[in-house]
Amino acid sequence: MDFWAEQAQRLHWDVRWSEVLDNSGAPYAKWFTGGRLNVARNCVDRHVEAGFGDQVAIHWVGEPGDTRDITYAQLRDEVCRAANALASLGVRAGDRVAIQLPMIPEAIVAMLACARLGAPHSVVFGGFSPSALRSRVDDAEAKVVITADGQYRRGKAVPVKAGVDEALAGSAVEKVVVVRRTGTPVSMGERDVWWHELVDPQPAAHTAEAFDSEHPLFILYTSGTTGKPKGILHTSGGYLTQVAYTHAAVFDHRPGEDVYWCTADIGWITGHSYIVYGPLANRATQVVYEGTPNTPHEGRHWEIVQRYGVSIYYTAPTLIRTFMKWGEDIPARYDLSSLRVLGSVGEPINPEAWRWYREHIGAGKAPIVDTWWQTETGAIMIAPSPGAAEFKPGSAQTPVPGISAVVVDDAGKEVAPGESGYLVLDRPWPSMLRGVWGDDARFRETYWSRFAGAYFAGDGARYDEDGDIWLLGRVDDVMNVSGHRISTAEVESALVSHPAVAEAAVVGAADPTTGQGIVAFVIPRGVAEVSVQELREHVAREIGPIAKPRQIMVVPELPKTRSGKIMRRLLRDVAENREIGDVTTLADSSVMAQISGRVVQ
Ligand code: WTA
Repeated sequence: MDFWAEQAQRLHWDVRWSEVLDNSGAPYAKWFTGGRLNVARNCVDRHVEAGFGDQVAIHWVGEPGDTRDITYAQLRDEVCRAANALASLGVRAGDRVAIQLPMIPEAIVAMLACARLGAPHSVVFGGFSPSALRSRVDDAEAKVVITADGQYRRGKAVPVKAGVDEALAGSAVEKVVVVRRTGTPVSMGERDVWWHELVDPQPAAHTAEAFDSEHPLFILYTSGTTGKPKGILHTSGGYLTQVAYTHAAVFDHRPGEDVYWCTADIGWITGHSYIVYGPLANRATQVVYEGTPNTPHEGRHWEIVQRYGVSIYYTAPTLIRTFMKWGEDIPARYDLSSLRVLGSVGEPINPEAWRWYREHIGAGKAPIVDTWWQTETGAIMIAPSPGAAEFKPGSAQTPVPGISAVVVDDAGKEVAPGESGYLVLDRPWPSMLRGVWGDDARFRETYWSRFAGAYFAGDGARYDEDGDIWLLGRVDDVMNVSGHRISTAEVESALVSHPAVAEAAVVGAADPTTGQGIVAFVIPRGVAEVSVQELREHVAREIGPIAKPRQIMVVPELPKTRSGKIMRRLLRDVAENREIGDVTTLADSSVMAQISGRVVQ
């Protein structure tokens, strides 16, 4: 425990904690009990007070090429104005605020303003559909929603506010704050207010209250094994301690020297922990880029690295594989010599992508830290040290100091070197989730019922002969598409909500670029013609474009066991063009012949 007490000293505490860990209410742990702090002050004000007000916090690059450099002093003023603005709308500590914004500075400002007020934010990824936004807003009972008129996507301005209007029709949300980004025409109703009209006139001074270490900081929804996303709850002191510690230790980050860039979107946990809270708590200077990596050209990221002298770059394997496809001559045109540490997150990185990343981005020498963690863990849990003696392409290697992770068999017994099993976290950690919003039963059932006293991550893993950990992918019905978690059940329920579909089964099939691709099998309702294109669009409308199946196969039947459970393993064989495995447990063993017969047609 001394270890974490030492790490907590990275932060400013208004009141020091009395106990590092109170696990008496397990699985709900309490960290740094009795301690009080303000997360936003830790991320912004204290750096200004320490004399670093003129240091750039954010080099922001807009997709169309506009840029803004924001110093810590300017960031503090903006966060204070936004906090005053939200308070003027009646937002108080404990109230929930939903945020659906593109990657613009206001997104970070809005999150920090909520943190400053002790109002948990719920950030909803910009690519989610109106109905996905609505279900998240309703589940968290958000009082205010912060959004934008539109966003830039591949060189085009696309509307955002119009979708939010559709989402919020008839909802209990009191106010909608709208940032002007694209100038896209919007209709402003009674509860709508422009960000610039509300925030700009506010005073740049705001006295931040110190909150309990366990005060809720945010809710972030993630896919589980059922159709309904889970609101993962994170709190203040332990979360901030672990994100600050891991950002410093895993990336060897040096404030005032490094220029850091994490390419995630703030709509995901990586954006929360490694764009907003970790780096800002550590007084990082970082790049935030609004757009897609190939707009206006495929060298965009490398142009930005060269321009700002980025020294730490953190991205996802799916993007690395995309860069590989575009060709090594593209990064070769830029000066990438400033890069000294490279990171990877979101899915296992295949050794080929690892080697390409090291060779063509890292000049053959930059350490690659392959970081394993989850929305639920809040911060990095397994990663090689950047100073490691040896890197193993494709392995996240070892739990970071302070963390315990083990691979166990079905009975919960640790497996031997060379063997595989399930990854579990057998000791509490500061940034662990503090529950599923409004659903205690689901929290206990999903994470704590599989192995007594340990957290079940849902990932398969293996020890190699040295005892290093290799992650093997999900062992539940969660797919990983371009590093995004999508549940098979969510896509299935979107499909069956279409009138032409009677039944649907969805599997994740190996995909050379996105890791997994979504493949759906649908049984049509009656004799109606089913348009596969229409069904793909339907899923995009229901959930968001990231959930659009790569392929939909219309089939007469689905393979089921005698108890009615769909055998996804067999469907995966079909989707991955493999010989079909053992069918003896099927209720009707001719089904697979019918399905594969259908597929080759
Ligand atoms: C997968 C993203 C292998 C894993 C931070 C996990 C990884 C899920 C890695 C969490 C990695 C993430 N190696 N697999 N380095 N990083 N994963 O909640 O299956 O969006 O359970 O958090 O991504 O996804 P989430």
